Amino acid sequence: MKLFVYHTPELTPKDKVPDCAIAIDVLRATTTIATALNAGAEAVQAFSDLDKLMQVSQQWSADKRLRAGERGGNKVSGCDLGNSPLDCTPEVVQGRRLFISTTNGTRALQCVENAPVVLAAALVNRQAAVQYLLAQQPETTWLVGSGWEGSFSLEDTVCAGAIAHSLLEQSRYSLDELVGNDEVVDAIALYSQWQDKLLEMFHHASHGKRLLRLKGHEDLKYCAQTDILEVLPIQKEPGVLVKN
Ligand code: MLT
Repeated sequence: MKLFVYHTPELTPKDKVPDCAIAIDVLRATTTIATALNAGAEAVQAFSDLDKLMQVSQQWSADKRLRAGERGGNKVSGCDLGNSPLDCTPEVVQGRRLFISTTNGTRALQCVENAPVVLAAALVNRQAAVQYLLAQQPETTWLVGSGWEGSFSLEDTVCAGAIAHSLLEQSRYSLDELVGNDEVVDAIALYSQWQDKLLEMFHHASHGKRLLRLKGHEDLKYCAQTDILEVLPIQKEPGVLVKN
């Protein structure tokens, strides 16, 4: 098994696909997707384009759909929800499909949607992703961070490091056997430094600061928790994620 970390969709190779791709957007899209599926959403359908989201979701009856739209950290007007995982309670999402478009996270999912296996991970479900990799042993796995508009994000890379770190601990692979590119070593080092103070790290992160300006402190606290959900979102058709 070889792991590769790509910090952003822009840095992710376009001319090949891995056996397994894991999209990561800790703040907040993949945290929200995992939370919605855990709370009983029928599926989550991700769009990079908002107009497409509106058009496709229109074909679903209003009581079976929820539209979640976020740009720049804010809720998009005309959508039912923004991108806060805390809004995805069973009362709100149970039995409904969540149609979601966010600034970067849904683009990360889209950039790997042709891989044979596509998963969505965040810190909240890190161990579920690790267990999947240990059980399935894909030959190549890409951990794709969402970043922010093409730039590196601390929180996505720390999550990639958390996955790699846990795999190393729970398998017999050596670092050299597991590492496919230098970014993996970098991500493990980042996680090793911040693992006991992830919320503090989010306060230093540019998107963490953006969310704090938007009164997102509770979101940061929720997203900084590790291994609280067993759910693993897996793509069943391009853009559509269900519970594994
Ligand atoms: C994104 O896709 O960039 C994020 O999920 C933004 C957010 O925090 O809503």
